[in-house]
Order: sequence, then structure tokens, then C-alpha cells
Amino acid sequence: MIKIHTKTFIGAALTAALVMTAPALAQQGWNEGGGEQDEALTLTPNLENGIEVYEVCAACHLYEGWGQTDGTFPQLAGQHKNVTIKQLADIRALNRDNPTMYPFALPESIGGAQSIADVAAYIATLPMNPEPGLGPGTDLELGKKLYVENCVRCHGENGEGIPEKYYPRIQGQHYNYLIRQFEWIRDGKRRNANPDMVKQIQGFSDKDMSAVMDFVARQKPPAEDLGEPGWENPDFE
Ligand code: HEC
Ligand code: HEC
Repeated sequence: MIKIHTKTFIGAALTAALVMTAPALAQQGWNEGGGEQDEALTLTPNLENGIEVYEVCAACHLYEGWGQTDGTFPQLAGQHKNVTIKQLADIRALNRDNPTMYPFALPESIGGAQSIADVAAYIATLPMNPEPGLGPGTDLELGKKLYVENCVRCHGENGEGIPEKYYPRIQGQHYNYLIRQFEWIRDGKRRNANPDMVKQIQGFSDKDMSAVMDFVARQKPPAEDLGEPGWENPDFE
């Protein structure tokens, strides 16, 4: 049985994180794996510990894992376990810059590879936000066309991703977060980006980017993966 966890206030830790910055780091190839990523992928997840670890994450990503509609904090709920493991390992290894979150992602805060496996598996079970932040809705035809031509082969027909290849689920993610990642990937600021994706999106104008991301934010996850509006995570109270 999963016990109910008490919500704790970690505002002080949060403030500390915001003033800390992560050291800059070296370039690596895409998804070379190794180290913690490989280890976490092979471990059997313990969901009870996943809840325990997730308590730390909830301060920013919320107990539901739904993030903020303004895109400050992404939705995590429903992301593929493999993808979350890769992102966490990358953030810890400073292969993806995330100064806000970095101190909370460290082994001192959450533990080793087992904790990564646990929290990633827990996140994958969370129902997704049915009301993500959306774009202006003015260029959806263009967005659809661009999506079909440039994104389907990796992110799938409906933005569902490909877990075995570490291609993220992007459907129903907050528009502003999507835009930020897209710019960072296009402009080389997100170091763990897939080089083939970088190539694929080089020619995108800001209008193209806005159109395709608005389309992606509006892609509906399957009904069984969606939460009800206002759902509160019963694992915490
Ligand atoms: C202090 C706030 C904060 C805390 C605490 C935090 N995060 Fe984050 N997280 C962020 C921010 C901000 C981003 C987006 C960074 C960016 O725009 O690239 C992010 C991004 C992520 C991503 C990448 C999402 C994607 O779609 O690629 C993952 C995975 C993630 N967080 C997991 C976690 C987990 C697991 C925990 C708990 C162990 C956690 N975060 C704790 C702020 C936080
Ligand atoms: C060659 C495969 C490929 C193509 C084509 C591709 N992507 Fe990606 N995309 C990826 C991979 C792999 C990642 C994750 C990179 C990493 O490991 O951090 C990613 C990451 C992303 C992210 C960040 C997700 C997150 O949660 O942070 C967004 C947004 C995105 N892609 C949108 C798009 C859109 C829109 C298109 C089409 C215009 C596109 N991608 C085309 C492979 C691809």
C-alpha cells in the first residue's frame, strides 16, 4: 500500500536554489549513456520511494506534476520513464543547464541512481494536465503542416514520443516551455539536444516555431492518460 505523504514547505530551500548557479560544463555526444543513466534504466523502480523523492520536485512541478501554464515549470506527468531518467542524469551531469533545479537534483538531495529510477517511474504514472498553457491559436494550419513534415518521425503522429529511443512525449506540454526548449535546441543552448533535431529545425523562423508549438501544446494525450481539471494528487495531503 502507498501511504499518504504530508506536504512540507521547502520555500527556504527553493530560495537557496534560486541564488545558486551550476558550474558550466563540457560538451558531450548525444545520449552516450553510461554512468547513472544506464544504471537507473536497469534498476527495478520502487514507487513508494518515488513518492518520497517526488516531494522535493513538487515545490516547483506541483504535486500533480502539472507544472505552470506560464511555462516556468514544465509538466512532468505522463512523461516516459526513460526520457525522465535521461533528463535527470543529464541535468546532474551538467549536460543540460538547469540552474534553478540543479541543487535539488543532486544525489545529496534525492539519492543515487535508484532514486532516479523511482521518481521517473512515479512521474510516468501521474495523469496529465488537461488544460496546458496554449499559444495564440492563429497559425494552427501552418503548425500542423510543419509538424507533419518535420517532427512526426521522432515525436510520433500525435506528439507521443518514442520511449525506447528517448524521444520525449511533447503533446499537451505548456506552450511557453515548448517555445523555450525549441529556441534553446535550435540555437545550441540545450547541450543534450539531439543533433538530428537541431539540423531539422535550423530553418525555422519565429513564426514557424510559434505555429508548430501551438499545434503541439494542443495535441491531446489519450483520454486514459488525462486527469480531470482540478485533480489533486491523493498521494500527498
Ligand atoms: C526549484 C525548482 C525545481 C525543483 C525543486 C525541481 N525542478 Fe525540475 N525543472 C525546473 C525547471 C525550471 C525546469 C525547466 C528548465 C528548462 O527550461 O530547461 C525543470 C525541468 C525538469 C525536467 C525536464 C523536463 C523535460 O520535459 O525535459 C525534468 C525531467 C525535471 N525537471 C524533473 C524534476 C524532478 C524529478 C525533480 C525532483 C527531484 C525536480 N525536477 C525538481 C525546476 C525545478
Ligand atoms: C531526429 C529526431 C527528432 C526530430 C526530427 C525532432 N525532434 Fe524534438 N527531440 C528529439 C529528442 C531526442 C529530444 C530530447 C533530447 C534530449 O535528450 O534532451 C527532443 C526534444 C524536443 C523538445 C523538448 C522536450 C522537453 O520536454 O524538454 C521539444 C519541444 C521538441 N523536441 C519539439 C520538436 C518539434 C516541434 C519538432 C519538429 C519541428 C522536433 N522536435 C523534431 C528528437 C527529434
